[in-house]
Amino acid sequence: MCGIVGYIGKRDAAPLLLEGLQRLEYRGYDSAGVAVAGKSGALRTVKAKGRVRELEDRLPKRFTGTTGIAHTRWATHGAPSDENAHPHLDAEGQVALVHNGIIDNATDLRAKLVADGVEFASETDSEVVAHLIGRSSADTLEAKVREALAVVEGTYGIAVLHAAFPDRIVVARNGSPVVLGIGENEMFVASDVAALVRHTNQVVTLDDGEMATLKAGEYRTYTTEGSRTSAAPTTIEWAAESYDMAGHDTYMHKEICEQPDAVDRVLRGRIDDRFATVHLGGLGIDAREARGVRRVKILGCGSAYHAGQIGAQMIEELARIPADAEPASEFRYRNPVVDPDTLYIAVSQSGETYDTLAAVQELKRKGARVLGVVNVVGSAIARETDGGVYVHAGPEVCVVSTKCFTNTAVAFALLALHLGRVRDLSVADGRRIIEGLRRLPEQIAEILNGEDEIKRLAARYADAKSMMFVGRVRGYPVAREASLKLKEVSYVHAEAYPASELKHGPLALIEPEVPSVAIIPDDELLEKNRATLEEIKARSGRILAVGHRVHEIADDTVVVPRNEPELDPILLGVPLQLLAYHAALALGRDIDKPRNLAKSVTVE
Ligand code: F6R
Repeated sequence: MCGIVGYIGKRDAAPLLLEGLQRLEYRGYDSAGVAVAGKSGALRTVKAKGRVRELEDRLPKRFTGTTGIAHTRWATHGAPSDENAHPHLDAEGQVALVHNGIIDNATDLRAKLVADGVEFASETDSEVVAHLIGRSSADTLEAKVREALAVVEGTYGIAVLHAAFPDRIVVARNGSPVVLGIGENEMFVASDVAALVRHTNQVVTLDDGEMATLKAGEYRTYTTEGSRTSAAPTTIEWAAESYDMAGHDTYMHKEICEQPDAVDRVLRGRIDDRFATVHLGGLGIDAREARGVRRVKILGCGSAYHAGQIGAQMIEELARIPADAEPASEFRYRNPVVDPDTLYIAVSQSGETYDTLAAVQELKRKGARVLGVVNVVGSAIARETDGGVYVHAGPEVCVVSTKCFTNTAVAFALLALHLGRVRDLSVADGRRIIEGLRRLPEQIAEILNGEDEIKRLAARYADAKSMMFVGRVRGYPVAREASLKLKEVSYVHAEAYPASELKHGPLALIEPEVPSVAIIPDDELLEKNRATLEEIKARSGRILAVGHRVHEIADDTVVVPRNEPELDPILLGVPLQLLAYHAALALGRDIDKPRNLAKSVTVE
């Protein structure tokens, strides 16, 4: 959500910054801007509403300077416009600032500044910080930034250029990621490693309350109070190629197709055949503690929450521990009762989602044990939790989650198996699940081979006024995720309901223009689900069934390979990702960057 990139070195900054912005565009894409410091230090800024390519078109031929900062925005305060795009300047045009996050006391600070005669050029909360820095009388840029941040409340990742200090960029973090990229006589900064991987694999991730000064040949990190911190670079694993489209037209398609490999990766090195269990090295709870867990509570947002619902069912089924999932965004606001015998699990692809992070912080404050099921190594949630399971899906660039959703569900299967085997799950059942897990990559590949047929179906259903997604128990989280996927990427309205709830109200919506997608695996609920199909058909509803056999009553069926019943939800979701993708394609949508959305929701 919003992207920051900065460069200081010997090369021309603007092309590097634009390339970085393009890689970060999935984090926000309603406006963009760039500022560079020329030889004399004088700052030049160009901003444009719209995509990075609009900014590129607007850039003058000679926009030179070897130090610069840039930003791609997802609007919170003030509509997308040239004026509201970052970087923001102070009144003298000496300070340029890019900001991710939200300044909570911006209204008060703005009022005070206006009373002092400051004129604002934008409606953003961020501009306040540029003015505060500009008005500071401190001697160094670091001290000016520190002074400004001392009165700011809220979350931020910022990068600051100052015309009087053209040899440096000063950055600070509180709640919004800032990563330094360490090069040879050049330094980068970004809100996401995606913007850095082309140039370096050596990174330093700032902690909350940390600042850094970047010069061409050196960097140093320190707290907002000024004491030095040690920040040795770490090596990032994700290679530059994993951010390329690899011959696909969209990242969404690429990421759907990567799932067999991604699932293979989350399983690799973790299966222990001898004891019919799995090793999860980072979990940080021993067998005795695992046996002491009385309840599991899973927290996440959007697709991560849906994957958590699948996880909760797996944990109940395999480990027989009561488990449920709840949106982290709700949990954190309802003053939850925190129970010492409950194991809390935060789920997040990015590891940055503010609502999930805030839930983790509240839990930790109350002394709870919190694990993470996270994709991005070293992200805020990965660092704040006591241990956990990495999802190893690789970078997910498309705004809508696909491969990470699937890998998260697989990571939960591993966790459920582990918890099950230290409790009452038999060796035979452990082996059965392991064999099922091993079959997944091939079975996903088999589903993907049926893409042409799903494309044909998508063309048939894309004109729906609205769509219902229904499933029972294991099928219900699959229905919810499929419904979310369809609406996010195709903008077709969709609703998900437990199949059993249909007759309690939503049946009223069924008509030929409102088709239903029914998730109908061959499990113990097959007959009940068949009755649901009858109910829909009796109201002239069209049905697309997704299950393990052809259902005559349905207008269309997608047959997916059978696995073990506990693992079936992982497979049942895959064709529905393709359905959403092809519906969006048929409707001419901007698949990787759906309107109004952005990846990693780092604001409340
Ligand atoms: C849906 C989607 C979002 C995210 C949600 C949580 O396709 O991408 O619903 O799942 O914003 O994001 P993470 O997993 O990064 O915490």
